[in-house]
Amino acid sequence: CGIVGYIGNRNAYPVVVKGLKRLEYRGYDSAGIALIHEHKLNVYKKKGKVADLEEAVIGKNINGKIAIGHTRWATHGEPSDLNAHPHLSCNGKIAMIHNGIIENFGVLKEELLEKGIRFESDTDTEVLLKFIEDIYLNNNNNSLEAAVRVALKRVVGAYCILLIEESDPDTIIAARKGSPLVIGIGKGEHFLASDASPIIEFTKEVVYVNDYEIAIVKADELILKNLGNEKQTPFITTLDLKLESIEKSGYQHFMLKEIFEQPKTVFDCLRGRLYADEGKIILSGIEQYLPEITQAERIIIIACGTSWHAGLAAEYFIEETCRIPVEVEYASEFRYRNPIVKKGDVIIAISQSGETADTLVAIEKAKEQGALILGIVNVVGSSIARISHAGAYTHAGPEIGVASTKAFTAQLAVLYLTAFKIAQHRQNISEEKYLMLCKELEAVPEKTAQILQLNEYIETIARKYKDAVSCLFLGRGYNFPIALEGALKLKEISYIHAEGYPAAEMKHGPIALVDEKLPVIFIATKDQYHEKVISNMQEIKARKGKIIAIATEGDTITPALADDVIFVPEADEIISPILNVIPLQLLAYHTGVAKDLDVDKPRNLAKSVTVE
Ligand code: G6P
Repeated sequence: CGIVGYIGNRNAYPVVVKGLKRLEYRGYDSAGIALIHEHKLNVYKKKGKVADLEEAVIGKNINGKIAIGHTRWATHGEPSDLNAHPHLSCNGKIAMIHNGIIENFGVLKEELLEKGIRFESDTDTEVLLKFIEDIYLNNNNNSLEAAVRVALKRVVGAYCILLIEESDPDTIIAARKGSPLVIGIGKGEHFLASDASPIIEFTKEVVYVNDYEIAIVKADELILKNLGNEKQTPFITTLDLKLESIEKSGYQHFMLKEIFEQPKTVFDCLRGRLYADEGKIILSGIEQYLPEITQAERIIIIACGTSWHAGLAAEYFIEETCRIPVEVEYASEFRYRNPIVKKGDVIIAISQSGETADTLVAIEKAKEQGALILGIVNVVGSSIARISHAGAYTHAGPEIGVASTKAFTAQLAVLYLTAFKIAQHRQNISEEKYLMLCKELEAVPEKTAQILQLNEYIETIARKYKDAVSCLFLGRGYNFPIALEGALKLKEISYIHAEGYPAAEMKHGPIALVDEKLPVIFIATKDQYHEKVISNMQEIKARKGKIIAIATEGDTITPALADDVIFVPEADEIISPILNVIPLQLLAYHTGVAKDLDVDKPRNLAKSVTVE
């Protein structure tokens, strides 16, 4: 979910609504806003996107210099007007929005029900608000802020909450644990949000609120306290973010803009780190820990979604170049299965947002057990970046499209740098191969730009296959993870069922799906497995499947078997995944567009999953 708050001298409504639109990537199944105007609290909320909320408030009083707003990704309770935030206290005088999950909401709700308190929604948020209200009203000299503090001591789970109270139009109370909160500091005004994107056009001075802190925010005052009521000094940082980076800049969708940004984002990621001519890699964020990393008995990579695919790709090239065993784990599985982690293990946590709840908790656990945590994160200052011992930012800039594209290639770029650096340090790799790989990596931005020139051609392929019911993506070795990523992109964006499989493993099941209607996308670039992939293609062709192949420029064997071919520039097999994914991103994008779907905000998904 995304949250926004404003207090100051402007009309709060446009600031908050614009902010919510910037945060819609975090969830978009309902939206709402609460404002105080002339000592009256007004709350509007609506199932659907922020645009539906805007329609719903036409003709209503949306005045006020203080407001809190929310865009939701449903956890407890289906998307509906009732379950949308803000929620109201029993007396209708306090409004609250919440991002996260209150795990012990059942117990709290029981207690409140016994006291005769009623609930209108199915949400854990309403339970928390009414719990706060109960403490507030039954404790005479209490302030709302104190009630929040007392209540939060009993809460198990993750939250970022904002509250406003009709009788105090000069204060927003905010608190966080596990879900992000940034406060922008203006002149006589404050902005609150889940990330900096709603704030950037107003101020660059921000405070990242820490877990277990409460903020008491007035137009010209910001007080931070811990749950023990002790004041904390706000640490002000200056944002290094440009407004253009969070706007579409003429592209039809953020996803397309972000796909096209990749020559630049990979370049930015390598800049100052890779000196291919000299054979030098500098990763200042991990340099200090290199001796420990190179001694590691094993590396465990933890991530979710697309980031997990980057991890899986890294398993292949880290093992190949560094000769250190690598395991790749879904964070949600790792955290609950009593994993064996010991001192000397190196954990690499990969996350675009740096806020994915499962990844965060998984690495907290591993950290407690003595592992060294390296974070590979895109969002600067995010929770995963902050709890990691060391790491490297991916520098892809804000990724707004829900389906991850440029963040993925930037993750791969950092993972290559890390692998080659460790390999060189361990002397597991010949100087010649190391230099070759550095040069190949350096050439990625240029080759990516060449692949992007195929955009219109790939659009025609997407149109041809857009009505498929199901698709298979096949690859081997370094490109098996890319088959998984290609399938994930297609299903996210076009809602076509898609599966990624190791090309040979296809014989053990998925081949039963093959008929003349099934498009099968092969990653068939030149590598050590190429002949084997060709055999797998024959097997599909013999069963009349339609073949779309990603092939290396100049290859004549693959095109003879395929119905459609997308040629990519020649590259070393280790580096090929970062290039081969680009046509698959475009294929998914154009399929979604051809089906007239909302590619930037696919149904049911959220960009940043801050609930487990
Ligand atoms: C969500 C997003 C995916 C992303 C995954 C992990 O499911 O929709 O695009 O890959 O979370 O997110 P992270 O921010 O940790 O990379």
